[in-house]
Amino acid sequence: MTGIIGGSGLTRLKNLEIRNRRVIRTPFGETSGPLTFGQLGGQEVVFIARHGYGHTIPPHRVNYRANIWALHHVGVTHVVAVAAVGGISTAMQSGVICLPDQLIDYTHGRPSTFFEGRESMVVHIDFSEPYCGLVRARLLRAAETADVAVIDGGTYAATQGPRLETIAEIRRIERDGGDVVGMTGAPEAVLAREIGLCYAPLSLVVNPAAGKSTEPITMEAIDAVMHAGMHRVRKVLESAVPL
Ligand code: HPA
Repeated sequence: MTGIIGGSGLTRLKNLEIRNRRVIRTPFGETSGPLTFGQLGGQEVVFIARHGYGHTIPPHRVNYRANIWALHHVGVTHVVAVAAVGGISTAMQSGVICLPDQLIDYTHGRPSTFFEGRESMVVHIDFSEPYCGLVRARLLRAAETADVAVIDGGTYAATQGPRLETIAEIRRIERDGGDVVGMTGAPEAVLAREIGLCYAPLSLVVNPAAGKSTEPITMEAIDAVMHAGMHRVRKVLESAVPL
């Protein structure tokens, strides 16, 4: 079954015909909210709003383990993770939709593995390719079908937040090869791989990252781009399911 994790600007899916909501108890505590079960374009999907349905949970406080565990628990096998990001490389202008294919994790202090605790074995998963090729391919094809332009590939840099970055931090990330920057891509992707979910991100660029524009980064400007762009993101999702 297909799971959709909605990020900022996507706390609900307009065309989702909601059947029911379920609170899932997890060994890791509470999820960001109940899982929403329903149909998108006639296809069964499970949706969760990463920051809570009222957008109250900041990126460093999201219980990624609970969310991923819960999706897996209810039978989700394939996940698309929607996220608003800042654009770093020239191609990543505001409004662009990117399907990243690599990840750099700059976050810290977030519970980022299922493999810990006394009874758990030490496991080192292969994370060379952090995202599921199958879901990426489906999203690419869906974007083509829906006639929505997307950029295939790019490196997602996950920062700690909730503050935005300094100009020097963005310069460093750029030297490291980062194309877009967001605050939620890790450890979400890590946990998905650990538990065996086929997971890929769908990123909407909502602002030029720090130092990439002469304008200050304001929430108003971000909201405007997000509002306009999420319409195209929804179109891709509808055309992509079932993943
Ligand atoms: N930096 C980090 N995360 C973000 C940004 C940004 O500029 N824009 C949206 N999410």
